[in-house]
Amino acid sequence: MSKGLFISFEGTEGCGKSTQVKLLADRLQSLGHRVRTLREPGGTPIGEEVRHTLKHSKNNAAMTAEAELLLMNASRAQLVREIIRPALANNEIIICDRFYDSTTAYQGHGRELDLEKVKAVIDFAVGDTRPQVTLFLHVPADISAERLRSRQENLPFVRDRIEEADQKFFERVAHGFGVIAASEPHRVKFINGMQSVEAVCAKIWDTIQPVLPRIGRW
Ligand code: TMP
Repeated sequence: MSKGLFISFEGTEGCGKSTQVKLLADRLQSLGHRVRTLREPGGTPIGEEVRHTLKHSKNNAAMTAEAELLLMNASRAQLVREIIRPALANNEIIICDRFYDSTTAYQGHGRELDLEKVKAVIDFAVGDTRPQVTLFLHVPADISAERLRSRQENLPFVRDRIEEADQKFFERVAHGFGVIAASEPHRVKFINGMQSVEAVCAKIWDTIQPVLPRIGRW
């Protein structure tokens, strides 16, 4: 029997990932699967410190795109070795809120770093540890921008360096996700994020259920 299952969620800001990660994890757990939910950047003590540096640290305004790329992947290299590989070897289901497609979309397309170099850094960070299924929650760029604005209004004291980028950056990110989804249709499943929470959840379940019989239960 194959070991574990690695699922990643991807999408632009405000696409509804976090809600769906939780719903999927709860459903799998209720069926007896051992599930671990993770987020990127972060997911380990070292990764959470890197996340703080990337997003909220008061000294991060001068961060270059290259440093951002490497920090995202430092967090990832740690997560892969400290948590993901041992958990998969233990037949667990990993659900990760973002993984390397976010690097391709944000640092590659968004920051306009050389895509081949971005790929080389990702390859070094993850080796052969890659999601079997990626759920790409798509919402139009204007909706994503509106949700980001309202999140910032509700949390005015939480500064996030990445969210300070201009609208053109987020449009390039959205385009990047579209390119990724089109280039790897076997792995990356396009989900229309404009449906109700329940409808998105049902669609995700239709995608995940067929791969479950391969996974052990406890
Ligand atoms: P989130 O956990 O609220 O989605 O915040 C993570 C932020 O980091 C989000 O703006 C996307 C960004 N990000 C990258 O730019 N590159 C990456 O590789 C990852 C994982 C996230």
